[in-house]
Amino acid sequence: MEKSRNINLNIGLNENAREEISKALNVYLSNLQILYAKLHNLHWNVEGQNFFKIHEKLEEFYDATSEQIDEVAERILSLGYRPLVKLSEYSENSDLKEIESRAYDGSETLEVVLEDFTTLINETRKIIKLAQEKGDEGTADMLIGYLKEYEKNSWMLRAMLS
Ligand SMILES: [Fe+2]
Repeated sequence: MEKSRNINLNIGLNENAREEISKALNVYLSNLQILYAKLHNLHWNVEGQNFFKIHEKLEEFYDATSEQIDEVAERILSLGYRPLVKLSEYSENSDLKEIESRAYDGSETLEVVLEDFTTLINETRKIIKLAQEKGDEGTADMLIGYLKEYEKNSWMLRAMLS
């Protein structure tokens, strides 16, 4: 992993901690980039009676994901490392599976998104724990906000699926 220009970097976290957390955040960034692409896929390809509702909700989700992508990449730089930037690296490192361009009905769309939010919830918890163990409250704080968002989104998706 590339280091950023970190002359005079002294934020009270040791090098090992910064490196370990940055590595985890690069995997996290890859997950978000794949999620961003998948949310667009489903936004475009969803079909059926709930088209408008789901189409709009997915736009809300990918806009939020876009902000998180920027925040996570900038967090990695703040920790003294460089974010991954290649699409090939994102797909190689992501825990989320890419999906085809085809028609998706409403329930399948919601199920795919719910599964990805569930994966992200688990990954987010792991990095929060790692960051807290290493004393990196800044990363933990950022991710706790995301965790609450994913949990709320998951509840809404389950409510619509039931
Ligand atoms: Fe659109």
